[in-house]
Amino acid sequence: MTIAIGSDHNGVTLKEALLQGVLKGLNVRDFGVFSSESVDYPDVAFAVARAVASGEYERGILICGTGIGMAIAANKVKGIRAAPCSDVYSAKMSRRDNDANILCLGGRVVGPGLAAEIVAVWLNEPFAGGRHARRLEKIRTQEESCHDE
Ligand code: RB5
Repeated sequence: MTIAIGSDHNGVTLKEALLQGVLKGLNVRDFGVFSSESVDYPDVAFAVARAVASGEYERGILICGTGIGMAIAANKVKGIRAAPCSDVYSAKMSRRDNDANILCLGGRVVGPGLAAEIVAVWLNEPFAGGRHARRLEKIRTQEESCHDE
């Protein structure tokens, strides 16, 4: 599986911990940032979201202070289903029911141990399909009516 990861300044420490831990040895591209200098999270969110939406990467992980700004921004990119998760159950269900292709984490919300558990579950849980596919199709239809990129 190919994974694109990115963070703002509030997520850079957790990003590094994940890269050195649960993501070590996996096929991951780090889209930055690489320091704690303040940046605008939408810039990183859009870079990772476009890389996933284009099919270049299968999954994305975005980290800011809460995970919320990254999710709001990433979900503006057509084809993206970004889920902010602070617990293992939500992460699992975001895959099973919602086929989330980007996981958003809060560097100020979850510690590195919990974040690693969330990531491990999220990467391994398959989409259930069936009635959930029908529901995602409705979201896709709505998306088509409001995007022109
Ligand atoms: C940046 O100040 C902060 O807003 C960002 O890290 C994130 O928490 C946004 O949702």
